[in-house]
Amino acid sequence: MEISFSDKVVIITGGSRGIGKDLVRAFAQANAKVYFTYLTNGEKAQNVVDEFSRRYAATIKANAVDGRSKEDVHNFIETVITENKKIDVLINSAGYIPRGLFLNTSEDVWKNAIESNVSSIYNYCTNVLKYMLLEKGGCIINISSVSAHFPAKGQAAYSASKGAIESLTKALALEYGKYNIRVNTIAPGLVETEVVKTISNQVKQEILKRTPLGRFGRAEDVSNTALFLASENASYITGTQLLVTGGRHLD
Ligand SMILES: NC(=O)c1ccc[n+]([C@@H]2O[C@H](COP(=O)([O-])OP(=O)(O)OC[C@H]3O[C@@H](n4cnc5c(N)ncnc54)[C@H](OP(=O)(O)O)[C@@H]3O)[C@@H](O)[C@H]2O)c1
Repeated sequence: MEISFSDKVVIITGGSRGIGKDLVRAFAQANAKVYFTYLTNGEKAQNVVDEFSRRYAATIKANAVDGRSKEDVHNFIETVITENKKIDVLINSAGYIPRGLFLNTSEDVWKNAIESNVSSIYNYCTNVLKYMLLEKGGCIINISSVSAHFPAKGQAAYSASKGAIESLTKALALEYGKYNIRVNTIAPGLVETEVVKTISNQVKQEILKRTPLGRFGRAEDVSNTALFLASENASYITGTQLLVTGGRHLD
């Protein structure tokens, strides 16, 4: 299925590595104009721009934008609008993945989970929706997690934040569907990124045993889903959660 995003402006948060980086690859390959953000990793972000600009004809721009900062996000969105007059697709992928049993979760960790994973989406959606309303169309994809639906031990803060994303997504889909703005989540299972290196082999083997498709996710499993959801092929899909888990959520 060939999907083209020529003339489309796509924002991807957290594109310097992991899932976000492959989202940048996928949308650049599909000819979108891609603006991605990162928090501190300027060198990695520049490598992403260089690598994919060499491979694809698309315009790719990296921006240091802390999603937790209303001001940062506002200024960034205004820059994108000044340069393009519109935003077609917003993918909220940046995230903070804390681990720890609930009673070991400090208030700082709790607050950072909510601010990085939920308030950042509030900041982006409030700024982007007003321009999507003017265009009478747009697509927002929030990267949630299987943990929103089936929390594992040691993920209270993370699961709570991802659960909030799922509810917010449905609320936005309900309110803005009549303006042809679609809002969906992708809820991945374990995807092989840097974060996964911090999980013990024993836990990984347990997860694998409970995954019917018998492998961990790859970043492109998420990107392919996002390409589909952002495309016209998904024009009747809103307010849904696509679980990209290899079936792990069944067991
Ligand atoms: N990996 C998995 O198994 C998995 C499974 C389910 C869901 N997810 C979700 O998928 C998303 C991506 O996960 P990942 O594993 O690819 O993460 P990752 O490798 O840790 O990358 C996180 C990205 O987000 C950026 N970021 C973090 N906090 C930010 C902030 N406050 N403002 C702006 N950018 C920020 C980072 O920028 P810097 O490079 O500058 O730090 C980086 O680009 C997350 O929402 C995560 O919860 C991941």
